[in-house]
Amino acid sequence: MHDGRLLWQVSLTSWIDEYLEQNGGTQIPCFVTKLPNGSEKGTFLAVDLGGTNCRVNSVKLHGDSTYTIAQAKHVVPRNVMINASHEPLFNFIAEKIQDFLGANFKADTREHNSFKEKNDYQKLAFTFSFACTSISLHEGVILHWDKGWDIPSAIGRDPCKLLQEAIDRLKLPVRVVALTNDSVGTLMAQAYTSQSNISPLMGAIFGTGTNAAYFERMESITKLHTTNGHGDYSRFASMAINTEWGAWFDNGVEILPTTSYDEFLDAASGDPGKHLFEKRVSALYLGELARLVFVHMIQDGLLDMKVDQATSPLFTQYGLGAAFLSQLAAAKNEHLKEIVPRISSTLQAQNVSTNDARALRVISMAIVRRAARLAGAAIGAVIIQSGQLDFENSVSRFSNGMYRDSGTIGSRRNPRSQLAKGLAASGTMLGNLAACFKETIKQPTQSSPSRGTTVVWAPEYFVEIGIDGSLFEHYSTFEEDIRAAIRDVPQIGFQGESLVKLRLIQDGSSVGGALVAQSVR
Ligand code: BGC
Repeated sequence: MHDGRLLWQVSLTSWIDEYLEQNGGTQIPCFVTKLPNGSEKGTFLAVDLGGTNCRVNSVKLHGDSTYTIAQAKHVVPRNVMINASHEPLFNFIAEKIQDFLGANFKADTREHNSFKEKNDYQKLAFTFSFACTSISLHEGVILHWDKGWDIPSAIGRDPCKLLQEAIDRLKLPVRVVALTNDSVGTLMAQAYTSQSNISPLMGAIFGTGTNAAYFERMESITKLHTTNGHGDYSRFASMAINTEWGAWFDNGVEILPTTSYDEFLDAASGDPGKHLFEKRVSALYLGELARLVFVHMIQDGLLDMKVDQATSPLFTQYGLGAAFLSQLAAAKNEHLKEIVPRISSTLQAQNVSTNDARALRVISMAIVRRAARLAGAAIGAVIIQSGQLDFENSVSRFSNGMYRDSGTIGSRRNPRSQLAKGLAASGTMLGNLAACFKETIKQPTQSSPSRGTTVVWAPEYFVEIGIDGSLFEHYSTFEEDIRAAIRDVPQIGFQGESLVKLRLIQDGSSVGGALVAQSVR
């Protein structure tokens, strides 16, 4: 493996500029120029297409930071996720919208033709959580299928248009008005529901896939100025960026900690060489990494258990879900006996010993801890890039730095020239991440302020990371490992980390989609 610091120095100022300037599949400007302030109102349909499920929702924003949501959740069939044609997928979604309207809005399933005015149509936000560039608030281009999906005919096409066509085939009174990503949705939902002393900094997803969105200063997003047809956004101070951090290292993989299991998983995946960070961090892949290690241990005779290759999920690719890892990791060392039956039934294994349980638990914990620490490093990099956590200016700057009502969330310090200086001094976002990775491979170190130091620290303002996803929600240790990694980022440390709140945002994709739709006139 290369020395991460060497890469860091070589790429110091180039990577972030490159990602913000070019039409690559990361650092994607989303045309959302304002964070909600909680006063938004209205009722919207929202379709959330994630890695596993398709959720159809009706979201009512009450205008006081609260909402009500009605939801129908459907597992997307495997033959729809992997199909030469995109039509089965978009027909599937349109049918689920039809069912939802039928069940929830009887009056609105009237014949298409009876709707005279455009405004009679229900506005729908489409949260499309796959790599997709945005062209406007309601148009995009699908770049790449990830999370095990593969629908080649959709690549290069606009998901909103494809969905609208399927909706029109069923003559539904629905107009797709907004396109968003789950990370952007989570950021929006976080801002809508946040308290006044909180600066919403980032929306992050740790579920089947992983991603994050934050607000970037407009002058740093030169990609926007160089691509035709985007319109003039110069009057806005900042814009939401869908980082697509799952793919951040696809050209610089030497920085990522890599084992032979990572290499095997990637080579056997549907998209080798792509989304390499995601393949070490997200739920879809953690179970698979564990499966590969367990199989290796069984084949090397390191475990007592006996497993029948024909029946055990251990011998099926993606046969182990991340939920199993969370059960193993959550088991207490002194109660290992209790998880033996669960291991036997899940793996269809005989003669499972407590030593086996101990070994499987240690492997699971290592895989989950690595994922959480990589996640913490990536979060740390975005925190630094945002400029919102800066001890020299400390708390008072936070209170001045956040002015989301004017649509300019983010630090008002750091215009581009200052940013460039800052980057040269402290590294680019990816540079920071490279440095963080060096730290993350180690055990957590800086979990408390140094001894003998009297810390008088009563902050009134916090930055907040809104997080959605099963890993964050269900892994008991995930948050603490993320926090430990953030503390280990030298520019953040214990004090900086104490200003960072992590908050679970449920329904972020759907509520955030509704908020984006609300902003479309
Ligand atoms: C996709 C992102 C998405 C993330 C979390 C990744 O595989 O590329 O667009 O936000 O998963 O769902």
